Order: sequence, then C-alpha cells, then structure tokens
Amino acid sequence: MDHSPSVVSLSAVDEQRFGIRTARAMLKDIGNFQETVKFCRDNEVLLLISRCPASRLDVVQVMESAGFLLMDTLVYYARNLTKTPIPANTSDVAIRGIRAGDEIQVQAVAARSFKGYFGHYHADSRLNRTRCDEAYTSWAVNSCVSRDVADEVLIATDDRENILGFATLRLNRDREGEGVLFGVAPEAQGRGIYHLLMTAAMQWFLEKKCECMLVSTQITNIAVQKVWSRLGFEPCHAYYTFHKWFDGRD
Ligand SMILES: CC(C)(COP(=O)(O)OP(=O)(O)OC[C@H]1O[C@@H](n2cnc3c(N)ncnc32)[C@H](O)[C@@H]1OP(=O)(O)O)[C@@H](O)C(=O)NCCC(=O)NCCS
Repeated sequence: MDHSPSVVSLSAVDEQRFGIRTARAMLKDIGNFQETVKFCRDNEVLLLISRCPASRLDVVQVMESAGFLLMDTLVYYARNLTKTPIPANTSDVAIRGIRAGDEIQVQAVAARSFKGYFGHYHADSRLNRTRCDEAYTSWAVNSCVSRDVADEVLIATDDRENILGFATLRLNRDREGEGVLFGVAPEAQGRGIYHLLMTAAMQWFLEKKCECMLVSTQITNIAVQKVWSRLGFEPCHAYYTFHKWFDGRD
C-alpha cells in the first residue's frame, strides 16, 4: 500500500503518530537487509517497519534470525480494465466524487470501520491502540484534502447525503490505477456498497485511460478478496510486513 522508493528512510508520519523514531524499508535482498540495519543503528531508530516480497524466503529467514516479527501479509490483485467489461451498477446507492467538507464524515466512517483493524500496526502489541486506529482515519482524511495522497476519493451516500462509504484512488505510472483505502460504515456493511465502490473505481480509472487496476489487502481480509474474485481480479504478488524493535525488548 505505501512503499518507499528507496531501500530505507525515516518515517516522519509514524514518528509523529507514535512518538518514537521510526524507519520504513523495502528489503528485496540480503544487501538491503544489511544496509537497513546499519541505517537504523546510525540513525538511532527504535522501530523499523520493513516489507519484503513474499517470494524472498532467504531475506525472511535472515530477518527472523535477527528478531524481526511478522506483522501482516499483504496480497495484491490486478485486473485489466479494457479486455472484459466492467459490471453495471444496479444499486440505488449513489456514488460521487469528493467535495470540500466531506472529510468530516469520511473521518467518522473511517474511525468506525477501521477500529481494531488487523493491519501491521494493530498486530504490534507495543503500539498504542488508539494511535493505531488513528493511522487509518488520518490517512483517509489526508486522502480527501491532499492530491499528493490520492487523486480522487469516491463517496457512497444515502438519499439524505449521509456518507456510507469511501474509496481512495491513485493514478500510478504506466496507465495503472490503484484502489488504496476503502471503508464502509458498520451499519451499512453487507449491502454490497464495497462491491459498488469497486465497480465505480474501475469505471473512474477507465475514464482516466488506465489499462489496469491494482488493489491490496491483508491476506486475512476475506470480504474484499471475495468481491475482487467476482469482479475478475487475479492475484499478482504478495509482501510480508515485519517490525523490528531495536531496544532488545521484543
Ligand atoms: C471490507 C468492507 C469494505 C466490506 O464492505 P461491505 O459493503 O460490507 O461489502 P459488501 O457488502 O460489498 O460485501 C462483501 C462480501 O464479503 C462478505 N463479508 C463481509 N464481511 C465478511 C467477513 N468478515 N468475512 C467473510 N466475508 C465477509 C459479504 O457477506 C459479501 O459477500 P456475500 O455477497 O457472499 O455475502 C467493510 O467491511 C469495511 O469497511 N471493513 C473495514 C475496513 C476494510 O477492511 N477495508 C478494506 C481494506 S482497505
């Protein structure tokens, strides 16, 4: 969901959220691992959040030996948008683009839908629970107010303009669109609103001339993978997320 292009870098957003020196890394080989550990020691990093392609078991095993703890597994699915038609929207729930001021209701929906979510933050018992929840709400709000975070946010509303769900969308390189963060208010779940947001996202990307749409989630998030399978998405790759605490108290 949120890969840094360089091997390792300090994460200001995590440091601000949790009040501890945090770095993020993408470890694709053993050299990346060694570089990252040195970076963390040189920069007095307390928490390292590292991702690794699930296919690189050699890197995984080196991390395990060094006391890194597995926090989640991310699966990615993709779908070509041009080869097969996008299913028509038959729901009476309305979908529209974000408007100024919507971020207040989006924040409320995100807070309730992501409370106690099963991502890598919540899997780490040393991180404050409330701050973990806030990671998702602030991400949703930032997506609404900053084009640096998301290119569009689609909103599902009832007939009184109450926001029932949201989808944050990003335009990647090479005519690829990515559905990043989706949430549906607990009282509106199970009515197909997520399915609807997905088809609207596919349509939006097609209008932006994207050929392919990418989505990702924790491997245990069965609800969204069921919807993706029905919409013709196929698995393409996976990453593990590890946390390493450098104070020796795992
Ligand atoms: C995941 C989420 C977006 C689904 O929204 P929704 O509007 O309820 O989804 P839909 O109604 O389109 O249905 C999804 C399908 O998954 C099923 N489902 C819902 N929750 C499920 C669960 N916990 N386990 C298994 N299947 C589940 C639904 O029953 C439906 O399948 P069905 O048609 O066979 O009944 C919503 O539960 C949510 O906001 N969760 C928290 C945040 C999250 O996981 N976001 C997605 C990752 S960014």
